[in-house]
Parts: sequence; structure tokens; C-alpha cells
Amino acid sequence: MNLLNQAADIIIKGKFNIALTGAGISVESGIPDFRSKGGLWTKYDPSEYATIEAFKRDPEKVWRMIKEMDDLLEKAKPNKAHIGLADLEKMGLLYGIITQNVDNLHQEAGSSNVIEYHGTSKTLSCLWCGRRYKKEEKREEYPPKCECGRILKPDIVFFGEPIPQDAMAQSFQMASKADVLLVIGTSAVVSPANTIPSIAKQNGAKIIEINKESTWLTDSVTDIFLQGSAGKIISELVDIIKNKRHK
Ligand code: APR
Repeated sequence: MNLLNQAADIIIKGKFNIALTGAGISVESGIPDFRSKGGLWTKYDPSEYATIEAFKRDPEKVWRMIKEMDDLLEKAKPNKAHIGLADLEKMGLLYGIITQNVDNLHQEAGSSNVIEYHGTSKTLSCLWCGRRYKKEEKREEYPPKCECGRILKPDIVFFGEPIPQDAMAQSFQMASKADVLLVIGTSAVVSPANTIPSIAKQNGAKIIEINKESTWLTDSVTDIFLQGSAGKIISELVDIIKNKRHK
């Protein structure tokens, strides 16, 4: 039986299926990932643009990169992969998604249980006085400033910042209970997000990896590797599951 059918059977039988997603799931929505050819980190050195120290040192410079990302995020729409995961949730076959992405596309596709492991681009905070704003409130300002006068920071987790407490706790609980984990569009090089597959594996979960190329997980943690574009694979997988369930 081919791998897609095997994966479909595992998902149908799963009692607590979850997903871990990375930038690769949003590439077909027009948002480049970070480490593939042409990815964001091939254009901007993350040590100069993506650490909390870099932001504090020169917020205007970091906002030039954020602005470029924001313009892409504004135009991005959920693709077949995001929609397929939302369908699985509606079918009772996906309990929740732990995402490393800050693009809100899972929520826009209709997924209701999304843990934003690296924060969100939808709100901005002042590092100095603590005030928080919705991104829309500051749309006309660039770079956006707090009423205290300082430049605001998007609520995305920069390198050197902690993972939001509740996201960390919820993700650990979900990974510890999962019997199926879909790992979609992540190179799994950034910790602690990249410990989630091993936590699930240790608890007996089946790991289904969807990626256009193999990662360090593929030969160590992954049970079924579905190679190719997330949009195509997930929509095919959901179609197979729908057919199997209506037999
Ligand atoms: N379909 C499936 N997989 C894809 C696709 C696609 N269309 N396009 C890219 N990929 C895969 C790449 O092969 C790669 O393995 O998605 C993965 C993207 O990896 P990264 O660019 O490293 O993104 P991610 O794993 O999400 O990075 C994690 O690093 O910079 C930080 O905070 C940032 O959340 C991000 C974290």
C-alpha cells in the first residue's frame, strides 16, 4: 500500500492527532521560508535582524525586514495545506496545531486550536512601557511608535527571547498525549520547537513528516515521509481520508 494510504489509515485510527508546522506550509501562500534557497535568511542575516539584541540596538533597521515580511503577510491567503488541516479538525481527526509561523493563516483557514509557538505578527508591544497595540491601530505609522515615544516591536519571538509560557506548556502537553504527529514544512533546526517531534515519539506517537526535502528528522524520528509540496500532499491525504471514511 502506498505511503499516502498508510498515512491516511494512521490518521483515521489516531485518537489524538496533532500537527507541528513551519514556514514551508506557507510558501505556497507567497511567503518565503527562511532556510531554503531564496529564503528570508539568505537575504537578511538573522544575527543582525532577528535577535532581540539587534532589535534593541537598531529597531529602524530591523523594521525594514519586518516591513518586507508584513507586505507579504498582508497579501497572503491560506493555501490547500492550511485548508486541509482545518478540514481534518472539522472531521475530528486533528486536535490542534502547534505552529512556528506568525502569519495567522491556520486561523484564517478555519483551524480553531492553534498554538502560536513563536508568537504573532498581529499585535505590537512596547519593550519599555509594556503597552500593547493591534497591528491595525498603527497601520499608518512606520516604524510604529508607542504613545511613550519608543518604537514598538511585533509580538513575534525573536532569537534570544523566551517561548510564551502558555504556548510552551500547551505544546508539551499535546506532544506528550499525541498518538499521531504531522510535522509539516519545517527544517526542525530551531529549538525548543524542534524537540516536539522527539517528545511525541517517546510517547509512542506515529510521526508523519511532510516536506519538499528530507530533514534530520527523516531518518531518525519520522515513521512516514511524504516528500513534496505541502498543499498537494495534504489535499490528496484529506481526499483519501474522506473516501475511506465514506466506504
Ligand atoms: N512544501 C513542503 N515543505 C516545504 C515547502 C513546501 N511548499 N517549501 C519549503 N518547505 C520546507 C523546506 O524544505 C524546509 O525544510 O519547509 C522547511 C522550512 O524550513 P525553515 O525555512 O527553516 O523554516 P522553519 O523550520 O519554520 O524555521 C523555524 O526559524 O527563523 C526561525 O522563527 C523562525 O519560526 C522560524 C524558525
